[in-house]
Amino acid sequence: MSCRVVVLLSGRGSNFQAIVGAKLPIEIVAVISNRPQAAGLAFAREHGLNAVALDHTLHPDRAAFAVQLADEIERHRPDLVVLAGYMRILSPAFIARFEGRLLNIHPSLLPMFPGLKTHERALAEGVKIHGCTVHFVTAQLDHGPIVVQAAVPVRADDTVATLAARVLAQEHRIYPQAIRWFAAGQLVNNDGRVNLKDDLTSQSVLSTGV
Ligand code: GAR
Repeated sequence: MSCRVVVLLSGRGSNFQAIVGAKLPIEIVAVISNRPQAAGLAFAREHGLNAVALDHTLHPDRAAFAVQLADEIERHRPDLVVLAGYMRILSPAFIARFEGRLLNIHPSLLPMFPGLKTHERALAEGVKIHGCTVHFVTAQLDHGPIVVQAAVPVRADDTVATLAARVLAQEHRIYPQAIRWFAAGQLVNNDGRVNLKDDLTSQSVLSTGV
């Protein structure tokens, strides 16, 4: 039985496209967006995937929207829910419903730079290494157990755009990898530390991408 995956996204959907392009042994059973115009949703439709728009602006009540979203996800009986640029904060009740099968990608080396504008903040701090993280989602924003990370150098002449592009290329590598591991049942969570079953390989990717 292949792993049933529901993808949530809000925008461009380049991570989602990388996941589709990786031809993983998974079944993407639905792609759901809170923004009906999201490019990621159009891509899903073009690829014959089940694309669902759930417009959060039509739900002034945050809690009611969360319940509707969770019910819609559950209807597709997912083994895994993948947040691929889903830009709404999820409620604790929602997260509890999917905990352990909810993955997110974040554009920084967590626990550094949780939240928004990560590339701007990395440049402002003058860090020399930046990157991205795939992690399980828990109630604490951008703090769940880390599955895999990739690091990139920060160049002296970097702008937000050049740094974001270098990080995004790594996002496109590590998210499909993390999903592949999950689908193969290879991820073991030991008290918040996620390791690969029977494997001591480091789950980090060092980019030489300059
Ligand atoms: C990605 O950089 C992802 O890491 C980030 O949004 C972008 C979505 O791009 N996610 C977050 O900031 C989550 N807090 P995409 O739509 O092209 O995949």
